[in-house]
Amino acid sequence: MSDMDVSNKLFLITGATSGIGKAAAQAIAAQGGRVVIVGRNPQKTAATVAEIKQVSGSPAVEYLLADLSAQAEIRRLAAEFQQRYDRLDVLVNNAGGFFMRRQETVDGLEMTFTLNHLSYFLLTNLLLDRLKASTPSRIVNVSSGAESGAKPDWDDLQMTKKYSGFQAYASSKRFNLYFAYELARRLDGSGVTVNALHPGAVATGLWSNPARGLARLVTPFTRLVMRSPEKGAETVVYLATSPEVEGISGKYFVDTKAKYSSRASQDPEAARRLWQISEELTGLA
Ligand SMILES: NC(=O)c1ccc[n+]([C@@H]2O[C@H](COP(=O)([O-])OP(=O)(O)OC[C@H]3O[C@@H](n4cnc5c(N)ncnc54)[C@H](OP(=O)(O)O)[C@@H]3O)[C@@H](O)[C@H]2O)c1
Repeated sequence: MSDMDVSNKLFLITGATSGIGKAAAQAIAAQGGRVVIVGRNPQKTAATVAEIKQVSGSPAVEYLLADLSAQAEIRRLAAEFQQRYDRLDVLVNNAGGFFMRRQETVDGLEMTFTLNHLSYFLLTNLLLDRLKASTPSRIVNVSSGAESGAKPDWDDLQMTKKYSGFQAYASSKRFNLYFAYELARRLDGSGVTVNALHPGAVATGLWSNPARGLARLVTPFTRLVMRSPEKGAETVVYLATSPEVEGISGKYFVDTKAKYSSRASQDPEAARRLWQISEELTGLA
């Protein structure tokens, strides 16, 4: 899929201990890219690195640990990354989850909003200087077609009054787009590009983890029509490595093609509003 020489490029991929992130890490490592994955469980993350090395045949796979639902951990992760690595060519924001019941993070925020959106926002902003120093560099946000069903309540983004797992998830995936589009505007001309994507319906932990509640909705038949993680990772790998998207920014991709996301997701005012709220919630303002 790619002719780009990725051998001296560094890729940081979140949520790469499972599903789409792991398949993307494997494919990029197999192309020769230097890959750093972010995991939250030390044993699982170390085992995943060993597996990716073995499957890809590349020794250039390392890991860092962080629970991305906790802002202090994201700050520690960014500091550790900056200490260890002097460049960052591609950041893939991919870690995410679906939570049937409302949960709060250690920072007192709603879990879906925090893990699926705020972690992208905070980690990216903390690593922006490294990306700017490594141009041409790229940010890839894994969103979802579920964004089109989002109806975020701007007066209650933490969903304290009314919670639905589907609405929380769809809104968080809409926020991935607001964030990508707004960041692309802010980075225009900087040499850092930002794009987002929908990976398709992929048979991953997102659907099969009973703790996250979606498992009971997935029958053996629906699993059959879902994509493999490798197929789901194709657009991630494309946006991270392909020379075809060099210089392209602020777009939404499905199956390696630029597509329109929902009309609502293209509202620049909403994107600015979310940016401001996210700055306040993360103390970046
Ligand atoms: N699967 C689909 O059909 C589909 C469709 C559209 C979009 N997406 C998006 O694709 C992305 C990847 O999801 P997936 O389908 O590959 O699901 P997955 O297999 O469940 O992978 C999720 C990844 O996120 C990590 N993660 C979860 N909570 C975390 C936390 N608090 N701190 C750090 N890492 C955490 C998980 O780590 P552990 O291994 O430790 O659990 C795992 O590596 C998500 O953004 C999702 O919204 C998926």
